[in-house]
Amino acid sequence: MTTPTIELKPSSNPLSAAEREAILADPGFGRHFTDHMVTIRWTEGRGWHDGQLVPYGPLALDPATTVLHYAQEIFEGLKAYRRPDGSVATFRPDANARRFQASARRLAMPELPVETFIQACDLLVQQDKAWVPAHGGEASLYLRPFMIGTEVGLGVRPANEYLFVVIASPAGPYFPGGVKPVSIWASEDRVRAVPGGMGDAKTGGNYAASLLAQAEAAAQGCDQVCYLDAVEHKWVEELGGMNLYFVYGGGEGGTTKIVTPTLTGSILEGITRDSLLALAADLGYEVEERRVSIDDWQGHTADGSLTEVFACGTAAVITPVGTVKSARGEWQQSGGRPGEVTMKLREALLAIQTGKAEDVHGWTHEL
Ligand code: PLP
Ligand code: COI
Repeated sequence: MTTPTIELKPSSNPLSAAEREAILADPGFGRHFTDHMVTIRWTEGRGWHDGQLVPYGPLALDPATTVLHYAQEIFEGLKAYRRPDGSVATFRPDANARRFQASARRLAMPELPVETFIQACDLLVQQDKAWVPAHGGEASLYLRPFMIGTEVGLGVRPANEYLFVVIASPAGPYFPGGVKPVSIWASEDRVRAVPGGMGDAKTGGNYAASLLAQAEAAAQGCDQVCYLDAVEHKWVEELGGMNLYFVYGGGEGGTTKIVTPTLTGSILEGITRDSLLALAADLGYEVEERRVSIDDWQGHTADGSLTEVFACGTAAVITPVGTVKSARGEWQQSGGRPGEVTMKLREALLAIQTGKAEDVHGWTHEL
């Protein structure tokens, strides 16, 4: 794999400090973008080349560009946080880089070297550092690296040219309105991914596949869809953009066990999920990866042994699950309020990400 250099061509016309501050006062999620982006090209026979940091702006694509027809696209999501001393750090960019390589392999795309992925993210954050929200809240700078097939032509085969891009967007909470539990529609007919499919790759097609189910969840009065496995329609997999955790026996002084569904190949291997496996153990909880059925979920909530459920991901951090609705009925987790263990894990994770707590795992990448 070639590791290209990235040439700097900064914008001569960035947003003014006042315009930027107005956006940072209420960034929302994915609505505003910083002044620059990084682009790197790959061509068969030549490898990675033409790395550039350039002003943020439109991409010109021929209408016959392969990605527009056959969806050869992968992406990542990671955040840069402002630390108490004003410096900035990203969270586990190496893990995102490795997952990007795994997604590339699944979509028959070239693998970007881990160090180039990290370098591209670092350069963009350094250039647009003023866009990283202040320390103290939960706001961050969300980085969205992605890669598309850019060969022109309608033949169905892996493209012979690709474009890697990193853009950045200041991000407030993914779910507006503070930490309040989300309601979930456990869909028993729509599936997100199938065994042998692309569920464990971060590719746009998985999100396109989730949109109708998401609209059906909204029609049921729910915020998010929970997908079950595609074969037996009973094993809980994940939400459209978040992994799930189940808390057994929390808050009663006894043993607390934190369980997350085993990775089956059709679940995305979340970096937040992985971090929480370690963090929960650090906090003294028992941790287990195993299959959880929708019947267990309902039954153990009813008998009181399953006390809390939460969703986790880069964009959503940790979000409690409140009401669960499915064809078999409706039930509530922890009285519809954020659970104690959920909030403890949330605080511990954010403290490491924002540089408030010591990072014994070496997860933070200071710029
Ligand atoms: N599952 C899906 C389908 C996702 O899109 C995401 C978000 O990236 C996650 C899980 C959580 O992954 P991570 O914690 O790496 O953001
Ligand atoms: C993320 O958490 O980074 C995601 O990609 C989830 C969603 C915004 C698609």
